[in-house]
Amino acid sequence: MKIPNYKDARKRSKEEVLIRNFSLDNQYLDLGKNKKFFLKTYGCQMNEHDSENIKGMLNMMQFTETDEMEEADLILLNTCSIRENAHNKAFGMLGRIKHLKETNPNIVVGLCGCMAQEEGVISEILQKYRFLNFVFGTHNLDDLPKLVDEGLKGSKLNIDVLSVEGDIVETMPVTRDSKYKAYINIIYGCDKFCTYCIVPYTRGKQRSRLKEDILKEVEELIQEGYQEITLLGQNVNAYGKDLYKDYELADLLLDISKLNIPRIRFITSHPWDFTDKLVNVIKENDNILNYVHLPVQSGSNKILKLMGRRYTKESYKELFDKLKSIPNISITTDIIVGFPGETEEDFQDTLDIVNYCKYDSAFTFIYSPRENTPASKLEDNVTLEEKEQRLYRLNELVNKYSKEANTRILNKVENVLVEGESTKEGNLFGYTETNKLVNFPGDKSLIGKILKVKIIDAKSFSLDGEIVE
Ligand code: SAH
Ligand code: SF4
Ligand code: F3S
Repeated sequence: MKIPNYKDARKRSKEEVLIRNFSLDNQYLDLGKNKKFFLKTYGCQMNEHDSENIKGMLNMMQFTETDEMEEADLILLNTCSIRENAHNKAFGMLGRIKHLKETNPNIVVGLCGCMAQEEGVISEILQKYRFLNFVFGTHNLDDLPKLVDEGLKGSKLNIDVLSVEGDIVETMPVTRDSKYKAYINIIYGCDKFCTYCIVPYTRGKQRSRLKEDILKEVEELIQEGYQEITLLGQNVNAYGKDLYKDYELADLLLDISKLNIPRIRFITSHPWDFTDKLVNVIKENDNILNYVHLPVQSGSNKILKLMGRRYTKESYKELFDKLKSIPNISITTDIIVGFPGETEEDFQDTLDIVNYCKYDSAFTFIYSPRENTPASKLEDNVTLEEKEQRLYRLNELVNKYSKEANTRILNKVENVLVEGESTKEGNLFGYTETNKLVNFPGDKSLIGKILKVKIIDAKSFSLDGEIVE
């Protein structure tokens, strides 16, 4: 049994990151023959992409996927720790699975993802969820085949979680959710240690993939006909800092841009590492889309400092203005309300920055204390009622600006990558270059194509359109 520990998870040594290649031991090759797996994923795009690797491994072992948990031989939960409600959802699901397992003890059940890296979660599992066959963490996804094998042989609660700073595993098999757009990890982990955030503990040290490995993956995706790639990292702007002397995200984007894939996105950008070179590269290259997710978290300098964000509202606005010089750019953000010590005045500063930036959209959250983080030791002195009211007021404002941003492109023609059929019959949906959702009538043979769509109606969260070509 290997149990996570925060002391090790916090370590950031200068030691080189180990890169290892995935290979599947022959003995596991037909483990999943005539067997089905059910995989539930919580959390961010990084977790979604990990799940694509998990599916890749399971498919290689001949498992097939099912959407019906009740008919699965193997159930896996890929979990998220970012806020308390993500926890509650996963534990709620474990309650349901417990019943299933009582009626069919042969089902193999595993839990992975960020929650697996938390000391508190593991002790709760050891007390209350001993029916699980195995738990593995974010640093050893490639242990899955071995754990499934042991599970099928009846292993009892095997906890296999590493608290190392993290290696990089290359050549992982992958079953992607889309044939047209793909996620590519470019940097793992996070060294920013914002005081409220659990990610640096659950995902380990910041470590970039070699540019050659990334470019090779992009080339393969182009060969397979992919139209859009999204470069992933908790802080993509830090790409290269741990590896190269002078090769940063801007250089990587330029190299990828030359490979001629129609659409390139990247998330998430921390304002701290946003260079002028990066602003220019977005401005000058058509296939690097005019869309930046730039979390602000708060508009109050006092709160930003307490959060350890390393910028002020003034420097954030300066960067924002530089980005706004890019024609038609869309900028979105994340905001937390009710951080410890946030007064009405601090909250007003947040509303002020939203009024200044008029974001295209924003994800808004009530602060949730996370185990072992510095902020969790501060007195949580904002009442739940105040937090909820602030969230409500913030959302009203954010939605007003989303609607305005959508209205600005009314009657304009946008390039839309068609992703699938929408719930309304005979309609398709896709996203503009600026990441806005559009629904429009069309035949499903158009899925996977980039079309010109005229915007004919604007709502807060989506657009309606019609194909012009
Ligand atoms: N790496 C990204 C954010 C990843 S987490 C960045 O630094 O911008 C996504 C969002 O979740 C964060 O931007 C933040 O707004 C929110 N979040 C993170 N920890 C939180 C917490 N403890 N409580 C509430 N929201 C949180
Ligand atoms: Fe968390 Fe901050 Fe890292 Fe984002 S940059 S993952 S908010 S610690
Ligand atoms: Fe959640 Fe882990 Fe992502 S905590 S947001 S799944 S990095």
